[in-house]
Amino acid sequence: MSKFAERYGPWAVVTGASAGIGTEYALRIAERGVNVVLVARRRDRLEQLASTIEDLYRVQARVAPADLTTRDIVQVLEPAIADIEIGLLVNCAGFGTTGPFLDMDAGVQESMLNLNCRVPALLTHEIAQGMRERGKGGVIVVSSVSGFCATRGMANYNATKAYDLIFAEGLASELKPYGVDVQALCPGGVFTEFQRKAGLEPRNFGPLQRLIFTSATTVVATSLRTLGHRVTVIPGFMNRLMVFTMRLVPRRVARWFFGLFVEQFIAKR
Ligand SMILES: NC(=O)c1ccc[n+]([C@@H]2O[C@H](COP(=O)([O-])OP(=O)(O)OC[C@H]3O[C@@H](n4cnc5c(N)ncnc54)[C@H](OP(=O)(O)O)[C@@H]3O)[C@@H](O)[C@H]2O)c1
Repeated sequence: MSKFAERYGPWAVVTGASAGIGTEYALRIAERGVNVVLVARRRDRLEQLASTIEDLYRVQARVAPADLTTRDIVQVLEPAIADIEIGLLVNCAGFGTTGPFLDMDAGVQESMLNLNCRVPALLTHEIAQGMRERGKGGVIVVSSVSGFCATRGMANYNATKAYDLIFAEGLASELKPYGVDVQALCPGGVFTEFQRKAGLEPRNFGPLQRLIFTSATTVVATSLRTLGHRVTVIPGFMNRLMVFTMRLVPRRVARWFFGLFVEQFIAKR
């Protein structure tokens, strides 16, 4: 058994496993010998991934298709997780929106708060109890570099990611004495379905997009390599530089500058 599987096995729950960063987490965790529960809405994607995982790695993969924004999410997931020992929880499901807050649909904004903030809090509350009792395990909360700074055009999304960051950092301090590792993963731009759904257009940066954007592979490799060693993880030199600079300048300057950056990034509608 790998060291990773000893510490974070025998099962991991990955939310948002049907696409992007979540799919990559599921594959890389399974590769390390940990069974996975795959959660998202699109059942066909999850089943395909489960079968790929079982073919490639000698682990089990369960699918738990669910809309995580439903009220009793812990109850909804209960049948898939009641009989297993979960050593790793990856809170990855999330989405973003762009545009003036007052002009966007209030229901969508509520869903985003729900999925990006309420779900990681409730799932962690349920699943990390067992980790604390056993004195080992890990929780990853996928935040973003957006969580470090407010911007116009993404006011609510950035606020949800700030919640994820602060929640994970606080929890890391609480659970460290019990041997449970918590990480706030803060990626910058990652090529996934996220941009299209959020109305962002990486091509607006021309050749610079390669400097600004990373792949889900790099992001997840960094996250899993540093789990247990670092709490706040910002993959990519350019992203670390950006966050460092944001902290050096007054908040209003950071807000103005990052706002210009995001404006470039918003797809023309
Ligand atoms: N890509 C980036 O540039 C970037 C940068 C920083 C942070 N992040 C964060 O990374 C995380 C993953 O994003 P991604 O880039 O991998 O995006 P993605 O490719 O769009 O994947 C999002 C995942 O969330 C799931 N999801 C969305 N709504 C859901 C719901 N109501 N119930 C259950 N599952 C739901 C989606 O599955 P279904 O549609 O099948 O439900 C999908 O599996 C997000 O938290 C995002 O904020 C992304």
